[in-house]
Amino acid sequence: MNDAATLTDPDALFDVLAERLEDVPSDRELRTKAERAAEINQLKREQNAVILGHNYMEPALFHTIPDYTGSSLELSRRAAEADADTIVFCGVRFMAETAKILNPDKTVLLPAEEAGCSLAEAITAEDVRRLRERYPGVPVVTYVNTYADVKAESDVCCTSSNAAAVVESLDADTVIFIPDEFLAQNVAQETGKEILFPQKRQRKGTGDGAPTGGDGAPAEGLEPDLIGWEGRCVVHEMFQVEDIQQAREEHPDTVVLAHPECSPEVVEEADHSGSTSSMIEYVENTDAESYLLLTECSMGDNIMGENPDKNLLRMCWQRCPHMNQITLQDTRHNLANNQYQIEIEEEVRVRALEAVERMLEIG
Ligand code: 13P
Ligand code: SF4
Repeated sequence: MNDAATLTDPDALFDVLAERLEDVPSDRELRTKAERAAEINQLKREQNAVILGHNYMEPALFHTIPDYTGSSLELSRRAAEADADTIVFCGVRFMAETAKILNPDKTVLLPAEEAGCSLAEAITAEDVRRLRERYPGVPVVTYVNTYADVKAESDVCCTSSNAAAVVESLDADTVIFIPDEFLAQNVAQETGKEILFPQKRQRKGTGDGAPTGGDGAPAEGLEPDLIGWEGRCVVHEMFQVEDIQQAREEHPDTVVLAHPECSPEVVEEADHSGSTSSMIEYVENTDAESYLLLTECSMGDNIMGENPDKNLLRMCWQRCPHMNQITLQDTRHNLANNQYQIEIEEEVRVRALEAVERMLEIG
């Protein structure tokens, strides 16, 4: 629980921001942000609303209005437990949809209507139905970074925190794992499984999905255990092994952390890989000279705001264009006007709920 999220006095919020924000151009800007945050916290109180904020939110918002901050998995759990009338999701659409799947009778608001996700847009419900036809009886594990209709076609969801555990819980010879290509490869690496990408194979015109190696090339006698899909995160696909090497040349003692949506080569080269919360915990519980985070760059600023003794290298240049749309100004406007409300067809929601609940049971 974030104490600042209960404050409605702009001066108190100004003090919080002055202490935690590093790159603020002027006191005037800080004052404006503090006033906006105070209005939001007041509206929250009046409307019995709770705000859930993903770890990628911009620092001024992250430190002031979310009652709870966290990773996708942590916020799904918070959403499942929420007893407010309204849930405002300061994150992207698939996260707000998960909150609605779990809370059909509550109002769920997303402050920016267009806040999507490149992974969620990489696959449709029809794609999943075709995969099922092609691989009958094979269970489908779907990353939560997907829309409700895709979840509804799935057996179980997972997040970056529990992807390997969910796959291993299935006790199946073969598992369809969608839609993140790199996460699938990293899970395959972690669980010692062979992976096949039927889309790549189709493009090569080499047949109809016989087993291949990790890059889609045919591999004699190889039985696939994981069937992947070619979705990518527009932020994490940008990081390269050379970025790590260059950072290590300039800062030999730096510790490198990479989100599992990064390529397997980057994850292999990093010192630690895990969900957004796992990275935060790692930084908080270790004592390195400096850290390089290969993920959305607001997160580094947010960690430094809460841990001023930590040195995070300012070599980050990747902001998520979707997360970046969520601002204090829009959140205030949306809460005041009760928009944009998330709606999901009941038949889709009920089927998606099964996949989400299975994931929450596994942990
Ligand atoms: P986490 O589940 O690790 O919070 O990540 C969500 C996400 O969108 C990463 O890009
Ligand atoms: Fe989607 Fe990548 Fe943005 Fe996360 S960082 S919300 S995976 S586009």
